[in-house]
Amino acid sequence: MLIEDLPGTERTSRIHAGRMPALAGADLEVPLANGQMRRYVNLDFAASTPAMEAVVETVSAFVPWYSSVHRGTGWTSQVSTRAFEAARRAVHTFVGARPTDEVIFVRNSTEALNLLAHCIPLRPDQVVLSTALEHHANMLPWRRRGRVVHLDPPESPEALLDAVRRALQDRVWPVGLVAVTGASNVTGEVFPVRELATLAHEHDALIAVDAAQLAPHRAIDMVAAGIDCLALSGHKMYAPFGAGALVAPAALMAQAEPLLAGGGAVSYVTLDDVQWAALPDRLEAGSPNVVGAVALGAAATALSRAGMAHVAAHEKRLLGYLDGQFGDIPGLRRLRLWSSGGADRLGVCTFTVEGMHHALVAAALSAEHGIGVRHGCFCAHPYITWLLGVSPEQSGAIRERLRRGEHRDIPGAVRASFGIGTTVEHLDRLLAGLRTLVERGPHLEYREDPATGDYLPADDSRELPRFDLLPPLDADLRGPGCGQF
Ligand SMILES: Cc1ncc(COP(=O)(O)O)c(C=O)c1O
Repeated sequence: MLIEDLPGTERTSRIHAGRMPALAGADLEVPLANGQMRRYVNLDFAASTPAMEAVVETVSAFVPWYSSVHRGTGWTSQVSTRAFEAARRAVHTFVGARPTDEVIFVRNSTEALNLLAHCIPLRPDQVVLSTALEHHANMLPWRRRGRVVHLDPPESPEALLDAVRRALQDRVWPVGLVAVTGASNVTGEVFPVRELATLAHEHDALIAVDAAQLAPHRAIDMVAAGIDCLALSGHKMYAPFGAGALVAPAALMAQAEPLLAGGGAVSYVTLDDVQWAALPDRLEAGSPNVVGAVALGAAATALSRAGMAHVAAHEKRLLGYLDGQFGDIPGLRRLRLWSSGGADRLGVCTFTVEGMHHALVAAALSAEHGIGVRHGCFCAHPYITWLLGVSPEQSGAIRERLRRGEHRDIPGAVRASFGIGTTVEHLDRLLAGLRTLVERGPHLEYREDPATGDYLPADDSRELPRFDLLPPLDADLRGPGCGQF
């Protein structure tokens, strides 16, 4: 079925006439545990998106020219420097930044938010106002800056605005910064950023938006929305080459002590003194990830050319379709923040399956249906435990088990998330897989890996691919982060 054929698309079919940018790996076939091959259904965009083909092409075209940036006089250095700075400009344009804003290239949103928390001037009596539903990346860095007020997950956008207004009016704890997500990575709700910015500014506070999820799916205009500072990740916006960005007023960062000290961030060094460079170099010490920045700039341009309104309309239509079908499957519990009303949501569907561990659901969708989703707590432990109704006693017991390195029985959910490459067929495959699981349970036998809490098929004949120049990818080659949830 084409997206244009979905019910209710007639009125807007013209905006769907264009095609979504192509994604690398769209035709990938993956093995099932029984050895059969299936077309892969990637529904894990909220974690990391596939690369856009246009981004890969730009990177391939650029790589022969790659060289040192800024200091080299060779022609390739000059080309690389211009490409790096052009990428900076592309990101600046993509988010509608002010001429007085600076784009700092970082690794990802986590680094961007840590850098911002390090730089932003706050008075000792000022607090950071945030919510309990933030990703850890927009929670933990602020704690290092002092007092953070976490508003309870609000019942509606209006309730959020009311709670923020009340907190801003509190004279005991003056708010210096409102730090909120642009959209929830767990349940997809898009925050009323413009209204939040107005409220923050009315009370002389700044607003920082964690746009890790928002940037790939909705148009951002920092000027129109009044966003002061913004963080985004390339690997979530179809440019998985290791770069992200912090965009913030130059005046906020110009005097900050660099987070990383080293070459590139300085204008002059003596044995007992250092003169830090001007922005952006000041906050980009060391040799930068030029290829990653070029990829991020290319993704920003490609998304703008595709049209963010077009992208958003595509994803909303798919979400409407999924919402319509999902309720028909018994035993699924959808996790939502704002269950009623027409509040905007990204293509994120997070749920639990009655009587089935979230890790088992995710493992079976992969091993038996060739579908990739995410399970666990999505780096938003306070929010997911709130959504699941985990009591303080249960929370204490979980903490104790994790302290002992036991990952069994960690609460969590399953998240299917999508974006520009997604089709109705992908969602149908998910729905069919879930129906089968709910009706008949997993077909295969699984064992729980106590070190990670993941479920693995007891008998798994899937072979990992080989990549030239890499040692074979043995199944027991686990990274140190495999136990994360
Ligand atoms: C809302 C949100 N903020 C921040 C992050 C952190 O992004 P990164 O892992 O790219 O640093 C994520 C990642 O999932 C996210 O979803």
